[in-house]
Amino acid sequence: MLVLGIESSCDETGFALVREGKELLCNLIASQAELHATFGGVVPELSSRRHLELFVPLLERALSEAKVTLSEVELIAVANCPGLIGALLVGVHGAKALSLALDVPLVGVNHVEAHLYGAMMAHRELPSFPCLGLVISGGHTALWLMKSLGHYELLGHTVDDALGEAFDKVARMLELPYPGGPHIEKLAAQGDSSRFSALRAGQVKGQPLSFSFSGLKTAVLYALQKLEQPLSEQTRRDMAASFQKAAFQDLVQKVGVAAHRHGCKALCIGGGVAANSYLRALFKEQLPELDSFWPTRELSLDNAAMIAGLGYQLFLERGADGLGLETKSRFDHFDQWKEGIC
Ligand code: KG4
Ligand code: ZN
Repeated sequence: MLVLGIESSCDETGFALVREGKELLCNLIASQAELHATFGGVVPELSSRRHLELFVPLLERALSEAKVTLSEVELIAVANCPGLIGALLVGVHGAKALSLALDVPLVGVNHVEAHLYGAMMAHRELPSFPCLGLVISGGHTALWLMKSLGHYELLGHTVDDALGEAFDKVARMLELPYPGGPHIEKLAAQGDSSRFSALRAGQVKGQPLSFSFSGLKTAVLYALQKLEQPLSEQTRRDMAASFQKAAFQDLVQKVGVAAHRHGCKALCIGGGVAANSYLRALFKEQLPELDSFWPTRELSLDNAAMIAGLGYQLFLERGADGLGLETKSRFDHFDQWKEGIC
């Protein structure tokens, strides 16, 4: 089955053509980072307008690169939550129009859930369930017990900043460009992670598997303010390395506890921060018994291939959603995610 995936939940417009939920024919992404850079963050209205401008040309390019025609598409999968409502609506309405015009089924996909599927796409087999799912992106940080595809129980989530957001904020303190994650990783590679060894991620009272990165970010700010200005290059490297280690050590520790508690032998990791090589090395070194499913680089950042891939699986399991498909900016972590729907 040939699936067209559409992603427009934030500041990236994506179109992908994927066969049987795994085989990538084309995965195009157009970032709007430059458009929003001068504002220091994503401007929702600008984002919606850019999605609209890009919809038809990018779709045409994707079809041409995949060497297929619209008439060959058999299913349309679109990210319908969570995200910026105006941005999501562009993708969802475009998808509905295509579904109606082509007379092919339509399925809505949760963007966060798709990040976890992105980790599975690079592997021949699905992980053995139950397994853990960790999403670490610019907008979300959460740990799930995945009982099967589409059936999850939330074990913990961030109570303040998402991990990618903390990376971006610390990057700004170190005068690095946005998005800061890759720049921190690069700087940290030459730094001494033991120099600011008092840095720790927060613990959430009564929720041992939840996350808190806001205190860590503030601790970085205070530590930097105490140092001689301007900061030396070595100090910037050491801080990047110390911050990165403190944040990742917390993830590894909580995943270890959850795996033990729930008898999980596999872990799927999704979201932009999963592109970090040091994080991969840390998991391998500290939790070698866990079979970790990492996405390829192109599938770790926002993309439409993961939407097409998961859309295919959901369609097989529960059928199409139809033109009544709703668009939602948020999803309730506690109630609705238990059933894997938004
Ligand atoms: O999943 P994503 O592309 O978009 C959201 O849905 O949020 O994640 C983007 C986030 C940004 O905060 C970015 O700084 C972070 O992922 N990121 C990284 C790395 N590459 C991207 N964080 C740490 N290390 C990286 N190599
Ligand atoms: Zn994302």
